[in-house]
Amino acid sequence: MKIISIVGTRPNFMKIAPLVDEIKRHKNIEHILIHTGQHYDREMSKLFFDDLRIPKPDINLGVGSGSHEEQIKAIKSRLKEVFSKENPDLVIVVGDVNSTLAGAQAAHESGIKVAHVESGLRSFDNTMPEEVNRIKTDRISDILLITEKSGNENLLNEGVDSKKIFFVGNVMIDTLLKHREMAKRSKILEKLGLNSKSYAVLTLHRPSNVDTRRGFVKIAEILDEIQEKIKIIFPVHPRTRNNIAKFNLDEELKMMKNLIVTEPLGYLDFLRLMDNSKFVLTDSGGIQEETTVLNVPCITLRDNTERPVTVEQGTNLLVSTNKDKIIEKFIDVINNKISIKNKIPELWDGKAAQRIVGVLLKNSSQ
Ligand code: UD1
Repeated sequence: MKIISIVGTRPNFMKIAPLVDEIKRHKNIEHILIHTGQHYDREMSKLFFDDLRIPKPDINLGVGSGSHEEQIKAIKSRLKEVFSKENPDLVIVVGDVNSTLAGAQAAHESGIKVAHVESGLRSFDNTMPEEVNRIKTDRISDILLITEKSGNENLLNEGVDSKKIFFVGNVMIDTLLKHREMAKRSKILEKLGLNSKSYAVLTLHRPSNVDTRRGFVKIAEILDEIQEKIKIIFPVHPRTRNNIAKFNLDEELKMMKNLIVTEPLGYLDFLRLMDNSKFVLTDSGGIQEETTVLNVPCITLRDNTERPVTVEQGTNLLVSTNKDKIIEKFIDVINNKISIKNKIPELWDGKAAQRIVGVLLKNSSQ
């Protein structure tokens, strides 16, 4: 059996790592790993391959940055060439980024089966590019691998045949559990002069938060208030870094003495940073899941989440981008007034990749 897996962006790498490991254990599977090149900076890509010991991709399509349409078009046409040469039995795509959708479409249009890892998540907010990518990817996928039960309901409501849906757990958590001990060796706290539980971690890159000056200024005002009370460590995503420069917000951020801006961090450094933080402020999807497993409060700077299990059972506090609400939650968190649910969602047990490969072997020939 020949499988091609496709990755392109930072959050894809921690999802593919355990699958690459698991596939390697099956000598009857030939595996090819393709990197689309959507993320290309060392901090956004190579660092993760090194930290997670993912083998170098067999092929890098080198598409780079561009509009949604440009990225999808370039990835699809280059992938189709590879598919026609390699003729795989199955293509695996992960997550919800442009590389995910382009990979699924290229495979589907080439008559190759598609398995979608992290299928079925829905924010019901079509203004998010990721939501559109998720819906379109699921529509053409043959094997839909879900991380939480809400995914099952969402897919059934969209008319997906229940026989195609498999509840397998969360590969991102496989990676987290495997590396949590190892991350304790990271020197990031010492490097930044931090004591455990004395600081917050911030990540910000959603277009809805950082692509307009107005939206960004609103967030900056909130940060200004929070950093008066606690140090905030802010590893800055390239999209956000570009917009800080474009909107002339450098000075404003520099004035905040307790806001520590860093380059994007590698996996192990970031894991140690999160694990020891008092709380995390984020608009990321995956971090909502990781903080739930780490039992660290997560204040999510969004109006919705496609990962409801993290709110229902985990540490996720979905508070929108309303300043008063965020500050209220923040005060509760630093005064230890939040009762954290601290339940680990079902099947987030470090064995998702094992279950996925089992499903693939059973279902890809039918
Ligand atoms: C992409 C995903 C998003 C995911 C995020 C994780 C889509 C639609 N979005 O968003 O879901 O949460 O990755 O990081 O696929 N850039 C660099 N170096 C890089 C990569 C990007 O400088 O290595 C800059 C470029 O200016 C680029 C911008 O960042 O235009 C945005 O990159 P892009 O890949 O389009 O989307 P992300 O915001 O990273």
